[in-house]
Amino acid sequence: AAMPSWVIDRYGSNEVLRFTRDMMFPIIHFPNEVIIRVHAASLNPIDLSMRSGYGATALNMKRDPLKFKIQETEFPLTLGRDVSGVVMECGVNVSYFKPGDEVWAAIPPWKQGTLSEFVVASGNEVSFKPKCLSHIEAAALPYVGLTTWSALNKVGGLNQSNCSGKRVLILGASGGVGTFAVQLVKAWGAHVTAVCSHDASTLVKKLGADDVIDYKSGNLEEQLKTLPLFDFILDNVGGSTEKWALDLLKKWSGATYVTLVTPFLINMDKLGVADGMLRSGVTVGSKTVKHLLKGVHYRWAFFMASGPSLDEIAELVDSGKIQPVIDEVFSFSEVPKAFLKLEGGHARGKTVINVISRQ
Ligand SMILES: NC(=O)c1ccc[n+]([C@@H]2O[C@H](COP(=O)([O-])OP(=O)(O)OC[C@H]3O[C@@H](n4cnc5c(N)ncnc54)[C@H](OP(=O)(O)O)[C@@H]3O)[C@@H](O)[C@H]2O)c1
Repeated sequence: AAMPSWVIDRYGSNEVLRFTRDMMFPIIHFPNEVIIRVHAASLNPIDLSMRSGYGATALNMKRDPLKFKIQETEFPLTLGRDVSGVVMECGVNVSYFKPGDEVWAAIPPWKQGTLSEFVVASGNEVSFKPKCLSHIEAAALPYVGLTTWSALNKVGGLNQSNCSGKRVLILGASGGVGTFAVQLVKAWGAHVTAVCSHDASTLVKKLGADDVIDYKSGNLEEQLKTLPLFDFILDNVGGSTEKWALDLLKKWSGATYVTLVTPFLINMDKLGVADGMLRSGVTVGSKTVKHLLKGVHYRWAFFMASGPSLDEIAELVDSGKIQPVIDEVFSFSEVPKAFLKLEGGHARGKTVINVISRQ
């Protein structure tokens, strides 16, 4: 059986995106898997990077670690990580979900993506969609929500019972991750300072940020230095920021800097899996020690697929504490246009794809 999908057959710029009606229908290979009919999907910077071949070395190893597959290639490859949709079929070990359930998930990047009529996911990656959201709204949250959850909670140790009175700085507050992070940290009761462009400040304040700083209005480092020190920094921007940002943390009090912009996959693309991992390990290890000696924690964080974490996010959504921030919705036929929009940068929340009502 075949289904409509957007695929790539090689890495490159936007023209490699190809629509087909003949993509192979997903198959349940493991008893814990479910097949979801995709109602809506959304785009993330990783889709742009993967389209261009970023991370291919590591992802191909993860796709086929023992080189079992006769077929040597990852193509045709479907991008798109977020899904909101309806369960169509369940593996024999799946007891939590049944066909017809409305669910959401973020699919790990080594699996086939969600820019497709159907997608297969492990049961433990899937969660019941928040009741108060449409599929379009729900598709805006899983990947950025789980990435933020990983950075703040799993790596950074923040949770709803230890945030009260803490000062949190979010660098890059206007995009997908930033708009989610501001709301999550506010829901947990911290004081939030958000850094974004001036035109996003109304949005970011509406999401709950206490202080908003425009990074284009003069030297950001100097502006931030005039504020009281922070307990936690989430860096969605990267680049040279980490050279000065850790000086904004309180010392010897468990204060932590977490960055989402790391050379982890690029190192493997450049050096191969083993040497790339070694290089990343040495880099993060030496920086961690250097900063620990100065009394602050330095960490890298990554997206982690997790149904149980999505359950917690769904609760925050249904209780009105977190809402999706949608920049623009595109129809399924407009996927290349949606990629171009994302590539233009300056996201104000998420770019969502309405998959089911395709024309
Ligand atoms: N490690 C992981 O597993 C992981 C997972 C998800 C995301 N990420 C990374 O995290 C970053 C954010 O992801 P996203 O999904 O939120 O991206 P996004 O939706 O494209 O948002 C990026 C935002 O950053 C703003 N920005 C750009 N330069 C800035 C600066 N110097 N200071 C403050 N804001 C700035 C942009 O707006 P303006 O340019 O208009 O200011 C835009 O709103 C990306 O680099 C992404 O690759 C990593």
